[in-house]
Amino acid sequence: MPDTMIASPKTPHDTAPEYDALIIGAGFAGMYELICLRDRLGLNVRVLEAGDEVGGTWYWNRYPGARCDSESHVYNYTFSKELYDSWEWSERYPGQAEIMRYMKHVADRFDLRRSISFGTRVTGAAYDEAANRWIVTTEHGDTHTARFLITAVGCLSTANVPAIPGLSEFKGEWYHTGQWPQEGVDFTGKTVGLIGTGSTGIQATPVIAEQAGHLTVFQRTANYSVPANNGPLTAEFKQWVRDNYDEIRRISRSNANGQAFTVEDRSVFDVDQEERQAIYEAAWAKGGLQFRATFRDLLLDKAANDTASEFLKAKIRSLVHDPATAALLADIDHPYAAKRPPIDTGYFDAFNRDNVSLVDVRANPIERILPHGVQTSAGEYPLDIIVFATGFDAMTGPLLRLNIQGRDGVTLREAWASGPRTYLGLQVSGFPNLFTITGPGSPSVLTNMPVAIEQHAEWIADCIAHLRETGVEQMEPKPDAVEQWVSRVNEAASATLLPQASSSWYLGANVPGKPRVFMPFAGGMARYREICDQVAANGYEGFTMTHEPSRITA
Ligand SMILES: Cc1cc2nc3c(=O)[nH]c(=O)nc-3n(C[C@H](O)[C@H](O)[C@H](O)COP(=O)(O)OP(=O)(O)OC[C@H]3O[C@@H](n4cnc5c(N)ncnc54)[C@H](O)[C@@H]3O)c2cc1C
Ligand SMILES: NC(=O)c1ccc[n+]([C@@H]2O[C@H](COP(=O)([O-])OP(=O)(O)OC[C@H]3O[C@@H](n4cnc5c(N)ncnc54)[C@H](OP(=O)(O)O)[C@@H]3O)[C@@H](O)[C@H]2O)c1
Repeated sequence: MPDTMIASPKTPHDTAPEYDALIIGAGFAGMYELICLRDRLGLNVRVLEAGDEVGGTWYWNRYPGARCDSESHVYNYTFSKELYDSWEWSERYPGQAEIMRYMKHVADRFDLRRSISFGTRVTGAAYDEAANRWIVTTEHGDTHTARFLITAVGCLSTANVPAIPGLSEFKGEWYHTGQWPQEGVDFTGKTVGLIGTGSTGIQATPVIAEQAGHLTVFQRTANYSVPANNGPLTAEFKQWVRDNYDEIRRISRSNANGQAFTVEDRSVFDVDQEERQAIYEAAWAKGGLQFRATFRDLLLDKAANDTASEFLKAKIRSLVHDPATAALLADIDHPYAAKRPPIDTGYFDAFNRDNVSLVDVRANPIERILPHGVQTSAGEYPLDIIVFATGFDAMTGPLLRLNIQGRDGVTLREAWASGPRTYLGLQVSGFPNLFTITGPGSPSVLTNMPVAIEQHAEWIADCIAHLRETGVEQMEPKPDAVEQWVSRVNEAASATLLPQASSSWYLGANVPGKPRVFMPFAGGMARYREICDQVAANGYEGFTMTHEPSRITA
C-alpha cells in the first residue's frame, strides 16, 4: 500500500476548529480587536473568555466602591463617533455597574457575542512550527487552532492572594476584590478585615465601613490619595462632551497619559511657595488624577515631588482626627505617584468612624490566618470576613498563566525568567504571530487604558492586513530589536521617580519571587504611538517577516 494511503490516527488537533485569529479575553481590548479583525478585515475570529460576560476588569471587580479613576468622558472607546454619541455617562467617574452596562451596550451594538466563547479559560497555547499555527487549549480540554494568536488578557486580571499560612482553615468568608462574587457580599453587622491600601482598598474601605459592624484595615504601605470629587454630570457638561468629541479624542491621543488633560508646562520651582500651595489647593479641590498634572517635574525631580508629598501628607493629618492613626496613614515611604496614585471618596474620613481601625502590618506583619481571624506579630484580630485588596500579579501574570510555548518548545516562562522581554510590548522573539495587547514594555497601565488599547488593537489589525497583502506567513521581532527595546524601557523608567517605589507592582515587587523589572514603558503614550507608527512606516522595522517558512509542510 502506498504511504499516502495509510490512514494516520486523527489527533485532537486535526479536528480542532480552525480560525484566522484567536483572541484571548473579552474586556476592552479583546472586544475591540474582534471588531478590528472580524468586521474590518473580514477574518474568521474567535474570542475565548474565562468569564461569563464581556467587560473584563469590570466583570470581575465588583467590590463595594469599585469605580473608575479615569473620568467618564475619556474612559470609553473613541473609534466610532456613532458609538460615542449612542452613550451618555451619568457621573464624573463611572461606577462598575455603569461601565458593565456600557460594555454590554458595545457588545450588543457590534453583535460581538456570537464570536465569543464565554466560560472558556485558556490553559495552554503551543506554536506548531510545521503548520505555522497556534494550538490553543482550554480548561475544558478542547483545542482551537489559528494563524494568529492575540492576547487581550489584561494587565490586572490575575488576582494576587498572598500565601499567608492558615487561610485554608479560616472558618469565616474571604474574598479577593478582583474575583468578587456576582451576588455581592453582605457585610451588615460583620467584623471585617481588609488587607491592602492600594487603589482598591482605598475605594472599598469607606463603603464597607458604612455596612460593617467593625472594619479593621491592615496597612503595610501607607498611600497618598486625592479626593475624586465625584458627582453627577450636569446637562451642560454632557452637551460639552457631545460637542467636543474631536477635541477630547485629539488631546487624549496626543499626550503622554491618554487622559483629556495635559501636564502643565511649569516646574514646581517656577513659582514661589505661596503660589505653589494655591495651585495644590486648587487641584485638591478639583480632585482626581489631574493632581499629577500640576507641574511637569513632579515625577522627574525628587525635590519637586517632595513639595506635593508634603502637601498631601499634611492633608491626611488634617483630615484624620486621631493623631496616631493620622501619623500612620501619612507615614508614606515613596514619592507621590511613583506608585499608581489612588483617588478616593471619603477614605481618610472613614478612619474617624468609631467602627474603623487601622493596623500597621509593616511594623507587625501578618503571621497567619487563624480559624476566626488574623494574627499579626502584635496580636490577634477576630474576623467574620477577610477582604483581600492585595492587587494582582500584574502584566506578566495573565500571560504566563496561558502556558505559552513558542518555537522549539521554549516556553514564555523560560524566555521571561529574568523579566519580560518584548519588542514594543507587542511581540516576543521566538513566538511567531503572537501579539500581546498592552503587553509589558508598552505604556498600558501608565495611561488611560482605552486609549492605549485602541492604539494596540489598530496597530495589530493594520499589521495583519499588511501581512496578508504582502503574503507574509510569519512575523516575529528580531532579537536585537527586543534587546534595544528592553534597554529603552529601562532608560525611560530610570529617567523618572517611578522605580523609587520599592513596593510597586509596576516593578513586580508585590509578588514574592517575581523578577524586579519595571514593566511598562514610561516614555509616554504619544511618543510610543509615534515609534509604533514609524516602525510600521519603515516596513515593520525590527521584525523578521517570512514569506514561505522553509519548515512549513502543511
Ligand atoms: C479595579 C480596577 C479599576 C481600574 N480603573 C481604571 C481606570 O480608572 N482607568 C484606566 O485607564 N484603567 C483602569 N483599570 C485598568 C483596566 O484593567 C483597564 O482600563 C481595562 O479595563 C483593561 O482592559 P483589557 O481588555 O486589556 O483587560 P481586562 O479588562 O482585564 O480583560 C481581560 C480579560 O481576559 C480574560 N482572561 C484572562 N486570562 C484568560 C485566560 N487564560 N483565558 C480566557 N480568558 C482570560 C479575563 O477574564 C478578562 O475578561 C482598572 C483596573 C482595575 C482592576
Ligand atoms: N479606580 C481605579 O482606577 C482603580 C481601582 C482599583 C485598582 N485600580 C488599578 O489596579 C491596580 C492595583 O490596585 P490594587 O489596590 O488592587 O492593588 P495594589 O495597588 O497592588 O495594592 C495592594 C495592597 O495590598 C497590600 N498587600 C499585598 N500583599 C500583602 C500582604 N501579604 N500583607 C499585607 N498587605 C499586602 C499592598 O501592600 P504593599 O504596597 O506593601 O505591597 C498594597 O497596599 C491599581 O494600581 C490601578 O492601576 C484602579
